[in-house]
Amino acid sequence: MADFLEGKSIAVTGAGSGIGRAVALACAAEGANVVVADYGVAIDGSDPSSEIADAVVAEIESSGGVAIALAGDVSAFDTGEQVVATACESWGAIDGVVCVAGILRERMLFNMTEDEWDSVVAVHLKGHFNIYRAALARMRKQATGGSLVGFTSGAFSASTAQANYSAAKGGIVSLTRSAAMTAVSLRLRGGPPMSANCIAPVARTRMSENVPFEIETGDAEDVAPMVVYLLSDAGRDVNGQTYTVVGRRISVWNQPVELRSMEAPGDRWSPAEIAELLPKEIGQEPNPMIMDLERRMAETTTQPGKD
Ligand SMILES: NC(=O)c1ccc[n+]([C@@H]2O[C@H](COP(=O)([O-])OP(=O)(O)OC[C@H]3O[C@@H](n4cnc5c(N)ncnc54)[C@H](O)[C@@H]3O)[C@@H](O)[C@H]2O)c1
Repeated sequence: MADFLEGKSIAVTGAGSGIGRAVALACAAEGANVVVADYGVAIDGSDPSSEIADAVVAEIESSGGVAIALAGDVSAFDTGEQVVATACESWGAIDGVVCVAGILRERMLFNMTEDEWDSVVAVHLKGHFNIYRAALARMRKQATGGSLVGFTSGAFSASTAQANYSAAKGGIVSLTRSAAMTAVSLRLRGGPPMSANCIAPVARTRMSENVPFEIETGDAEDVAPMVVYLLSDAGRDVNGQTYTVVGRRISVWNQPVELRSMEAPGDRWSPAEIAELLPKEIGQEPNPMIMDLERRMAETTTQPGKD
């Protein structure tokens, strides 16, 4: 066992399989006590079971680590408090939370049912709120503060078959940036050190196995070291960032800012003035998702005139 997280108390949601399991095992291997929180559901959120959370706890214990299983549903508000209370009652503090739990209900936007929308937004976005809220309430009262790590996706910038997932993942980026600002504002008033950051991973898991096109990918175990770093004292000053982690590559995302602007020639813009001047003065920004979609469709679609 190494000691990057020695004595820390960390909760990981979605820790029963895929990336969450790799994160939980890595945290325990670095000396953390770990709440293994997982509802044990199928990829669409159905058929809950406590078995996979128990299995990961057994795996950690068999390597000499310390862990507790919690088979709660992160979309339920009270689960946030249960996860945090489990860590605090067992080990006296909550030093970090990692929100990895997630589901998929894929459908084109024009066919999506209300339940497909609600369930995905509830598990991903509300799930992050439930855990972050309960964790921050404790962390701001601990002298040692703590770290929040959210899980977004490159799909936060757009997705054709997963508009619900994309919207929830975009919400997670904004929520995490807001948590980072909250952490900084508390710190400026004399509070403890706290941080909030997002990972946009790509890894071979059951969730990614049906992606219908070639993607750069890696293993769930490739993602875990970056999470450990963000939870550790060494990563304490990293705040409000989104990092893609895939295989051997780690990239930082840009921060949203206004790029170019134009001023109305008179007191207020008319639509005709906008129509004339917008293309010349500020134009549009290239949308990488749309450009990539056009490239992929050009590669896969039969061209008119060809068989
Ligand atoms: N695998 C990838 O390439 C990839 C890409 C982008 C983003 N992500 C994100 O990374 C995270 C992990 O994905 P994964 O590929 O390991 O998926 P996975 O399906 O292997 O694991 C997800 C885990 O979350 C648990 N879970 C689902 N709903 C839950 C709920 N309501 N409460 C508690 N636990 C719940 C499941 O039981 C499962 O163990 C997800 O948030 C996913 O959106 C993954």
